[in-house]
Amino acid sequence: MYLIQIGLIASFLIVNTLQTNRIRNHPNYTYSINEELLTFKFATQEAHVRLLSNPTIYDVDVFRSDKDGLLEQIETPFLSLDNQYLDEQQLDNDCVGLPKHPKLNEILSVNLLDNTLDIYYTDILSLPQFDKIFLLTDELELRQATLQYNSSSQSQWKVEVKNISYSLKNLYPQEINYTNAYFACFNDYQDKCLILSNYGGIWLDKNSEIEQPILTFEPVISPNKDLNKVNVFDQYLAIANGNAGVDLYQFQNNQLSYLLKITSKDLNQTSINIISLKLIKNRLSILDEHTGLYIFDIINNQVSLSLTLPYQRCVAFDHSEDTYLLVAETPNNIEYMMEIFILPISKEYYINRIYVDDFSFREIQIDDDYAIIIGEDVHLVVRHSIFNGFMKNNTDLVKTFFEDELIRFEYLEMNQTFLTQFVETSYYIGLSKGSLHIWKFDDYNPVIICRFQYGTSQNYTIRANSSKCENHTNRDLFEQCQITQYLVIQASGPLLESDSNYLIIGVSVSVAIVIFIIIVFLCRRGRALAKKIQELKKQAEELKKYKVLEAEQQSVGL
Ligand SMILES: *[C@@H]1O[C@H](CO)[C@@H](O)[C@H](O)[C@H]1NC(C)=O
Ligand SMILES: *[C@@H]1O[C@H](CO)[C@@H](O)[C@H](O)[C@H]1NC(C)=O
Ligand SMILES: *[C@@H]1O[C@H](CO)[C@@H](O)[C@H](O)[C@H]1NC(C)=O
Ligand SMILES: *[C@@H]1O[C@H](CO)[C@@H](O)[C@H](O)[C@H]1NC(C)=O
Ligand SMILES: *[C@@H]1O[C@H](CO)[C@@H](O)[C@H](O)[C@H]1NC(C)=O
Ligand SMILES: *[C@@H]1O[C@H](CO)[C@@H](O)[C@H](O)[C@H]1NC(C)=O
Ligand SMILES: *[C@@H]1O[C@H](CO)[C@@H](O)[C@H](O)[C@H]1NC(C)=O
Ligand SMILES: *[C@@H]1O[C@H](CO)[C@@H](O)[C@H](O)[C@H]1NC(C)=O
Ligand SMILES: *[C@@H]1O[C@H](CO)[C@@H](O)[C@H](O)[C@H]1NC(C)=O
Ligand SMILES: *[C@@H]1O[C@H](CO)[C@@H](O)[C@H](O)[C@H]1NC(C)=O
Repeated sequence: MYLIQIGLIASFLIVNTLQTNRIRNHPNYTYSINEELLTFKFATQEAHVRLLSNPTIYDVDVFRSDKDGLLEQIETPFLSLDNQYLDEQQLDNDCVGLPKHPKLNEILSVNLLDNTLDIYYTDILSLPQFDKIFLLTDELELRQATLQYNSSSQSQWKVEVKNISYSLKNLYPQEINYTNAYFACFNDYQDKCLILSNYGGIWLDKNSEIEQPILTFEPVISPNKDLNKVNVFDQYLAIANGNAGVDLYQFQNNQLSYLLKITSKDLNQTSINIISLKLIKNRLSILDEHTGLYIFDIINNQVSLSLTLPYQRCVAFDHSEDTYLLVAETPNNIEYMMEIFILPISKEYYINRIYVDDFSFREIQIDDDYAIIIGEDVHLVVRHSIFNGFMKNNTDLVKTFFEDELIRFEYLEMNQTFLTQFVETSYYIGLSKGSLHIWKFDDYNPVIICRFQYGTSQNYTIRANSSKCENHTNRDLFEQCQITQYLVIQASGPLLESDSNYLIIGVSVSVAIVIFIIIVFLCRRGRALAKKIQELKKQAEELKKYKVLEAEQQSVGL
């Protein structure tokens, strides 16, 4: 069914983009790597897990070789790294390979609404350093919650919503019914964040409490009829003002100043509706609902157009470096998402994949490896930047359902980050119409898992694809690494008990070695500095609780 839709969309796109500077076929840069022989020696019947050497492998095939050297492919299941779970799967005298894959799991949901109220939340500001969360509603009510994480307590997360709110309406002379309202925080202003609404800007002192918030008016922000999105990077603040275009501000020496406006005239259009934007490094990307995506460079506080991606009926976009995800709608209202690689130097772009699914896209958030796509009642996690033609279906998509309309979904800055050899765990916080949520996001590294009876020996060939070769540092979007590795299994006969204990310890030690404390500073979404610790055991227990629905991934290249 989707194939027909994709076909229609593909032909629609071809008709509409013939005259643009899109690249139809981009050459790939394919490298073949032969990894060192991997040898497993067992004397226990436990499942054994080994990391594959390239951490970005997205596709693994394992082939069993018989005596004549013929290869038989083993079906890749979708498994967790939990040994018990593996036993249930009856991994018997065999190995399976798992690519790098994510799991997303909601671990907490807190009701925000008093049933009598019809509040619509618009934004969330989480300040984990201060255990504090501020919330904004479309009636300019400010609310506060406290967030606590305690790794040693049973229910690790605790959220308490304070039952009082503060009305920011009183700060404005005019009557305010409904407004969009967002938070905007500058990295080098630790004390305050801006609250932006259609009526202007107010600084909120992050150290103050909702009972007595410290608020100051910001005169530089002009009121606007539309306020669709705000984004901050370094000292710049960009605001998508719908028909009025985009306003760019600069924050320097604790002072906000107005820099410039991008209007319909700058885009050579008679009317525009800027629905989204993203500011990162010196690149400003803005999305006009009717005419597509415009990418500007910010040079000396001026903007200069770098690239235009003309698409009609746009819905949402996000990007990570040169990989863009853009959602648009066909004239007969089918939504589709394109993964686009842009080549800023030659000012060209290439459509890598198209997704069609039967849900309404609303918002996209891109991470280094994954894109989280928020739909009306479903969200997806997609692996991005994988060059077309290399992607097997069903390996890169996590789909979860959401009961309550999701408004925000953001990376949660934690003092602690959890990292093991096998999985990196991070947390996300989100806001829906009526509740606050915490998700656990587990990013599993590629592994091979084997379990054998005594007295077996078996050879395997592992073939894997990765979007990056180990020793290539510059990331080319068109680069692919095809990895081949041979695997020799020797499961010795029943041993003396001491021997098998030794081996059990051997496995535990290899796991234990990984349980060292790593302090890693990572900067995600331009503002996080987080400390990394790790917790392998707990995660293995929690694995069992996951209910992840895998969905078929639809992809097609043009
Ligand atoms: C890797 O890419 C090649 C070339 O496109 C493809 O034939 C193969 O199925 C992919 N997957 C694996 C696991 O090799
Ligand atoms: C496995 O490979 C090794 C050498 O790599 C070879 O000596 C052995 O005979 C092979 N075993 C089987 C069962 O194919
Ligand atoms: C995070 O670290 C800051 C300072 O480093 C500390 O004040 C705060 O209590 C910590 N928060 C948590 C939740 O551990
Ligand atoms: C964390 O939880 C443990 C066990 O419930 C408790 O003893 C400890 O005081 C808690 N720590 C904090 C900082 O709340
Ligand atoms: C908040 O809760 C306290 C008790 O938990 C109650 O006494 C107070 O009236 C509540 N305040 C509001 C504004 O509802
Ligand atoms: C707010 O609502 C009132 C009545 O509900 C209406 O008279 C007024 O014009 C509205 N104000 C704005 C700014 O929309
Ligand atoms: C608008 O037209 C001018 C002159 O043709 C051109 O230089 C500029 O790049 C155009 N801007 C956009 C956004 O297409
Ligand atoms: C990649 O390029 C090589 C040679 O340039 C070609 O043989 C191969 O088919 C290409 N693979 C894909 C998936 O386009
Ligand atoms: C993968 O896609 C092919 C066609 O592209 C389809 O025939 C096959 O059923 C799909 N497999 C899975 C597991 O989705
Ligand atoms: C990567 O480089 C290291 C050191 O330069 C080398 O030991 C290793 O074999 C290389 N790996 C691959 C896959 O080429």
